Amino acid sequence: MASGLTVAVVGATGAAGQATLRILEERKFPVRELRAFASERSVGKIVTFRGEPIRVQKVEPWAFKGVELAFCSAGSAQSKEYAPMIRAAGAIVVDKSSAFRMDPEVPLVVPEINPHAAKHHTGILACPNCTTIVTVMPLKPLHDAGQLRRVIATSYQAVSGAGVNGIADLREQTLAWARGEAMVARHFPHPIAFNLIPQIDRFQPDGYTGEEAKLVNETRKILETPDLPISPTTVRVPVFTCHSVAVNVETETKITVARARQLFERFPGLKLWDEPAQQRYPMPLVVEGQDDCYVGRIREDLSHPRALNFWVVGDQLRKGAATNAVQIAELLFQS
Ligand code: A2P
Repeated sequence: MASGLTVAVVGATGAAGQATLRILEERKFPVRELRAFASERSVGKIVTFRGEPIRVQKVEPWAFKGVELAFCSAGSAQSKEYAPMIRAAGAIVVDKSSAFRMDPEVPLVVPEINPHAAKHHTGILACPNCTTIVTVMPLKPLHDAGQLRRVIATSYQAVSGAGVNGIADLREQTLAWARGEAMVARHFPHPIAFNLIPQIDRFQPDGYTGEEAKLVNETRKILETPDLPISPTTVRVPVFTCHSVAVNVETETKITVARARQLFERFPGLKLWDEPAQQRYPMPLVVEGQDDCYVGRIREDLSHPRALNFWVVGDQLRKGAATNAVQIAELLFQS
């Protein structure tokens, strides 16, 4: 029998699912058999894995017989239904949705930050929200060096974070604008082309969006800092790929700009790109396709003696989703 695992990708036709297939290939994850799943609309469609056509199947309990590892990125409602069923079929589930992230029994893992969390699981492990991952990567070395006291984060989030329909909205509206036609919003609540929308998902009674609450709660869980004050604002921008975040951090002990640069440079999964005189700083078009998160624009906060400002950009389909999910699987299966 060939070596490797039987792996399922649920949501294989979507933006994150497609990225998962590519990253399993790139990282040479030991896959013996790949099964692809999506909604009933896509049954019979073909996705490719290592150059081979794979027919998309319907999600049904029997279809997971023999599956050892499943990646789920079909949305939160779907994960709530499917993940326990896939686990019952004998697989470990790495779930990309928000369904289980705050469940105390479910580890929420960024492998560079809290790999120890992946050791204790009950068959489901959660991959954090894409904006959370990009934000928490540079927070971790600062926390270890100077202990975070407060974080203010404002995100600039790409349309592909909303999946294939978000990509289509920006593309179609841009083409309509170029033809002089009206821009029609199909997926987002307003046109996203040439616009900014300060709403990622639903508003809560406190006036924050679900996305903003995720950034707060998930960051606290990953860093194991349950009381860390975090002030979030999340914004959708007309960018296809990569989330950017402007971050202000206050620390218990002062971290100079020079020290922060050193800390970021040494942290796995982070790259420093901070040469303002050369106009070199991270931008979505440059970071797209990379697995590392890029940090730049590092400045002392002139209004506070122990605070820094910086700018971080990450490809949210890769490190913000698929790469992080595959890294979690590597923690589990490649030891
Ligand atoms: P489909 O392409 O058939 O709609 P994205 O996040 O890019 O929008 O992708 C969502 C993914 O989740 C797609 O692969 C989509 O399949 C899949 N999906 C959506 N609803 C379901 C469902 N009820 N069962 C299984 N997969 C689903």
